Amino acid sequence: MSSSDLHLWHPFTQEGVDPPALSIRSGQGVFLETQDGRRILDAISSWWVNLHGHSHPAIAEAVAQQAGRLEHVLFAGFSHEPAEELAARLGKIVPPPLRHVFFSDDGSTAVEVALKLAVQYWSNCARPGKRRIVALEHAYHGDTVGAMSVSDDSPFNAAFQSLRIPVLRTHSASCAHCPVGLTRDTCHIECLNKLERLLAEQGDEIAAVIVEPLLQGAGGMIVHPDEFLAGVRRLTSAHDVFLIADEVLTGFGRTGRMFACERAGIVPDLMCVAKGLTGGFLSLAATFASDRIHSAFVSGDRTHAFFHGHSYTANPIACAAANASLNIFESEPVFERIAAIEQVHARRLPAFRKHPSVLDVRHIGTVAAIELKVPESDAGYLSSLRPRLYQYFLSRGVLLRPLGNVVYILPPYVITAEELNFVYDVIQDSLAIVFPAA
Ligand SMILES: Cc1ncc(COP(=O)(O)O)c(C=O)c1O
Repeated sequence: MSSSDLHLWHPFTQEGVDPPALSIRSGQGVFLETQDGRRILDAISSWWVNLHGHSHPAIAEAVAQQAGRLEHVLFAGFSHEPAEELAARLGKIVPPPLRHVFFSDDGSTAVEVALKLAVQYWSNCARPGKRRIVALEHAYHGDTVGAMSVSDDSPFNAAFQSLRIPVLRTHSASCAHCPVGLTRDTCHIECLNKLERLLAEQGDEIAAVIVEPLLQGAGGMIVHPDEFLAGVRRLTSAHDVFLIADEVLTGFGRTGRMFACERAGIVPDLMCVAKGLTGGFLSLAATFASDRIHSAFVSGDRTHAFFHGHSYTANPIACAAANASLNIFESEPVFERIAAIEQVHARRLPAFRKHPSVLDVRHIGTVAAIELKVPESDAGYLSSLRPRLYQYFLSRGVLLRPLGNVVYILPPYVITAEELNFVYDVIQDSLAIVFPAA
């Protein structure tokens, strides 16, 4: 690095203690290759974005073709074929009545769009007092200010309390740490009672409830019973409050269905997707809205328009990547691969459940999590276990980034059973290293 080079400032990195970033020169399938030729198995899909393997040739080709035809055009007053094709294709997999799609850049902006649409809907309908948002404990919805506000308190947003808008908080169905002290085998989803009270008492002031459907990601890979999501839908409908499903992590097959909402048999009023939308190639997001919401923005009154947009809204190259990724869902056995991953999780996790240092194991679709026992003072994202485990996994050639004391696997769908079993073996070995006495 010469003295005129800029220093690279990496996200979620404490340079005072973390090792330098690994420089990656290529990626193929589930493997990344470092500049010095080491192969690393990417067991977390590079922050949950990659679906079909790194550098999938069909998506690479679609990106190259589109870049040579039309790289970008503004999306206000203009449109283009890749976005039109993508809207048509998404229309076939997104449940009705979500008939309207608003593109943005990433998961956080998709959430900002959903929050703003919900709040402006009620304002356009002459009910501006209905503007509060309810969000769940353990939620994570992104790092921009609105998304950070609906996320639960955590080290990620501790320095920004003064920026966060006030949000009403309700229980999550975090069964391993039940918020109402019950156990799953006998409970009747009593964790919903708090939401029921909130909606009954303040429903006139509440615009929307936002949830990560069935799987809360960064909060600790917490898997909810289907009944919890179904209950949130029932309650929000009963109180005329919108339900925003943040499918940024769960969308495009992660939970075993195209969208997590399908598993619980519900349809939200607003739904956000990003991450896997382009198969993990480029940054693109979408917020889907119901007819009811869209119709409140259409009138002769210009002030009722949705004044939101980003320079790269619906970038044609990103849309082409998304179309190519959706092609792969049709041309390759993607859901068979997903089912094969689920089978390995189901086979390997029970042994971990019995380990004396394991507090809980959980899985849904392609995602599995092992929560390790640590003293209360060392639990959470900043657990001292995290850096030790991370380095150990890398030394074995596996990329896993534990969320504090929660180790999780979230692989690209092309991972083989042999590769996934290797990841489990490495996690198994790590327990002997970090808990030698057990
Ligand atoms: C559920 C959920 N919503 C939103 C986001 C934010 O997405 P992005 O990092 O693309 O802004 C994330 C990121 O992890 C997420 O898991």
